[in-house]
Amino acid sequence: MSLRPASPLLAPSLLSADFTRLGEELRMIEASGAQVVHVDVMDGRFVPNITIGLPVVESLRKATSLPLDCHLMIVEPLRYAADFVKAGADWVSIHQEADPHLNRTLASIRQAGAKAGVVLNPGTPVETLVDLVDDFDFVLLMSVNPGFGGQSFIPRVFDKVKRLDALRTERGIPFLIEVDGGVSMKNAADLVLAGADCLVAGNAVFRAESPMQAVAGLLGEMDRGRTA
Ligand code: DX5
Ligand code: ZN
Repeated sequence: MSLRPASPLLAPSLLSADFTRLGEELRMIEASGAQVVHVDVMDGRFVPNITIGLPVVESLRKATSLPLDCHLMIVEPLRYAADFVKAGADWVSIHQEADPHLNRTLASIRQAGAKAGVVLNPGTPVETLVDLVDDFDFVLLMSVNPGFGGQSFIPRVFDKVKRLDALRTERGIPFLIEVDGGVSMKNAADLVLAGADCLVAGNAVFRAESPMQAVAGLLGEMDRGRTA
């Protein structure tokens, strides 16, 4: 029995958007048919870059009804995870590598009312999650080293998606599998075919000549992968 949602989801990443026009970028995402908005929160410690924080998420919340998927690339995520839910996040994910108490932090996210996710860096095996499957709603697999948009896709993630898909089938727990980094027209269909349910795309959407057409193209590829 398949534990996957009926159709795959696309989450454009605002990291590659024009930060002076976030309201317009959100309206473009809504009009494009993409279903989720990916928000990259970086603290300059877990990753070398600093991006946006709680006040921006509060503003985004007022400007769209699409689910906000907050990817926290921060140390000590327990300190802030529930605050992101209060600010308006619908999905909050924390890095496995940043938190020795994942169970506690995931519980704080669920208790605050959001979907809780664990993120794995390219070098972190999916097997580190086998004793945690009851505690999260989704897993975000990084297909680049986190910190920046526009990096090259690391193909090794295909095998991780397949192993994670096998794990959820074996355990009978319908968590979602999301992939982030270097997603493009070249790999979107194959990622969905391997078992991914949600793809994040930054440069592939916002650096395209027509972001609307780029979303349509990616959604088409994802459907192709789903029905293959
Ligand atoms: C990288 C971020 C990604 C980034 C993806 O650390 O987590 O969400 O925005 O950008 P692209 O799709 O350009 O690789
Ligand atoms: Zn991200």
